Amino acid sequence: MYLLHQLIALLACLACIACQQPVASTTYPIPSILTPARATNPQFSQAPLQHSSFAVSSTVPFGKMVDPTNAYTIFRDGGGSCHIANRTLFFFCDTNAYLNGTFKGFASNSISVATNFSQPNALSDASCTPSTGCPAAIPWTPAEAATQGYPSKRYALWVYTNCVPTGNNTAVHFWSLNKYSSDFSYAGLGNTMVQYALDPTTNHLTLTRNTEITFAPPTYPYGSFANVVVNGTAYLYGIDITYNRNDVHLAMAPVDTITNLTTWQYYNASSQTWTSTMPVPTARAQSAAVIQNSIPFSTGTIFFSEYHNAFLLVFFDNWADSTFRVLSAPSPVGPWTTNNHAIWAMTPGPKGFDYGGVAHSYYYTNNATAGKSLMLHFSYQNTSGTYTVANELTFA
Ligand SMILES: *[C@@H]1O[C@H](CO)[C@@H](O)[C@H](O)[C@H]1NC(C)=O
Ligand SMILES: *[C@@H]1O[C@H](CO)[C@@H](O)[C@H](O)[C@H]1NC(C)=O
Ligand SMILES: *[C@@H]1O[C@H](CO)[C@@H](O)[C@H](O)[C@H]1NC(C)=O
Ligand SMILES: *[C@@H]1O[C@H](CO)[C@@H](O)[C@H](O)[C@H]1NC(C)=O
Ligand SMILES: *[C@@H]1O[C@H](CO)[C@@H](O)[C@H](O)[C@H]1NC(C)=O
Ligand SMILES: *[C@@H]1O[C@H](CO)[C@@H](O)[C@H](O)[C@H]1NC(C)=O
Ligand SMILES: *[C@@H]1O[C@H](CO)[C@@H](O)[C@H](O)[C@H]1NC(C)=O
Ligand SMILES: *[C@@H]1O[C@H](CO)[C@@H](O)[C@H](O)[C@H]1NC(C)=O
Ligand SMILES: *[C@@H]1O[C@H](CO)[C@@H](O)[C@H](O)[C@H]1NC(C)=O
Repeated sequence: MYLLHQLIALLACLACIACQQPVASTTYPIPSILTPARATNPQFSQAPLQHSSFAVSSTVPFGKMVDPTNAYTIFRDGGGSCHIANRTLFFFCDTNAYLNGTFKGFASNSISVATNFSQPNALSDASCTPSTGCPAAIPWTPAEAATQGYPSKRYALWVYTNCVPTGNNTAVHFWSLNKYSSDFSYAGLGNTMVQYALDPTTNHLTLTRNTEITFAPPTYPYGSFANVVVNGTAYLYGIDITYNRNDVHLAMAPVDTITNLTTWQYYNASSQTWTSTMPVPTARAQSAAVIQNSIPFSTGTIFFSEYHNAFLLVFFDNWADSTFRVLSAPSPVGPWTTNNHAIWAMTPGPKGFDYGGVAHSYYYTNNATAGKSLMLHFSYQNTSGTYTVANELTFA
């Protein structure tokens, strides 16, 4: 018994040490290019929705998001942005690099920095260039790093929404962790919270994962679909990817303690109450979902639009119809509209439907009403390959 107790004490101690150590961390330089945006002050709106038709006056395509100074030709998809320290980081998914037509490198993800909100397709690449090579932007655990047989038997970390700003120079971003068992077959293992800390003096970005998986199915992947920060509280949305993609479930946490999961609370829309007990779904729980009865979701972004005096969810649905749609609500907890407005049905690329639609509302807040114009990016399947394109949409 004594030995057993000693063993348990030793294991508890090891577990405790493990829980305090990040499972993965890395630091690297990023280009220092400032793109300041006017901060907005999201409010639970008291007055009604404005411009409720969501009529659109223009969409301007800027084309492929590309670093004109990078000798590599890059194809990549997905992604989301992160505005911290007056800089705009752009993270992307599967990234292929070519030099004069010769394959030079592949990474599950990559990072670039936006250079100019007036030219939203112009980037400065940070992790996939002839001088950096093309390593993954997000750090792997040792076990993940040891399993990187491309294209099969590899892990993948992908992101399809924007980060959660938690301070002037810090954010967290929810990436999905996937594992390939063969060239074209992969399983989603859950999401992982990646912490970003940007040192504005040295222009170094530190990325840290405290646990390999933060939320594993059937738990909702909170934060992976969308998020919005209001008054120091982060609202974190996850699609019910196990039982029904028409439902979105909601958690919240103070931004100051977001990495401490015991400070999170979970919303039940049926009772309109928050609980500290994380629901572990065993079946569809539609009545608890903050958004119900929608068409199925794929990717989206939530932000407060001054122009509409409302929180908007701008999203792509789970059908291959290459269309941005919008739902609205007076507060992060709703009530969310149930009938979406299609705001932009674009012509898809020659190789198929567009996907990974994400909005970047802060691009057009300087000297303008936030929400009137949006930067929208999505993955475009051209004959040469798949890449992301940048667009400006302006509401009427
Ligand atoms: C698709 O590729 C063609 C040929 O390179 C190019 O002319 C066109 O601009 C591309 N479309 C987009 C949306 O990038
Ligand atoms: C790629 O092509 C350009 C233009 O033809 C040439 O200047 C350059 O040397 C080539 N680079 C390599 C690595 O072959
Ligand atoms: C951003 O792009 C606009 C439009 O091309 C240009 O007028 C402006 O000078 C650029 N700003 C910077 C800081 O490069
Ligand atoms: C964030 O920056 C503002 C000035 O831009 C400063 O007043 C504030 O104290 C900073 N917050 C933190 C937590 O450092
Ligand atoms: C961003 O830049 C503005 C203008 O220089 C400055 O006032 C503000 O403190 C900066 N914010 C952060 C988070 O660094
Ligand atoms: C923001 O939070 C503070 C502290 O909880 C509270 O006093 C204030 O009323 C809140 N403001 C809004 C707009 O919700
Ligand atoms: C996490 O939050 C709980 C509840 O506030 C607190 O008791 C605990 O000390 C925190 N843990 C850490 C590591 O900060
Ligand atoms: C949500 O609240 C309703 C009404 O109180 C309750 O019946 C239901 O079980 C709750 N759902 C979850 C997932 O806790
Ligand atoms: C916004 O307006 C101020 C004052 O009119 C001006 O100094 C500033 O350059 C403008 N900023 C942008 C991004 O147009």
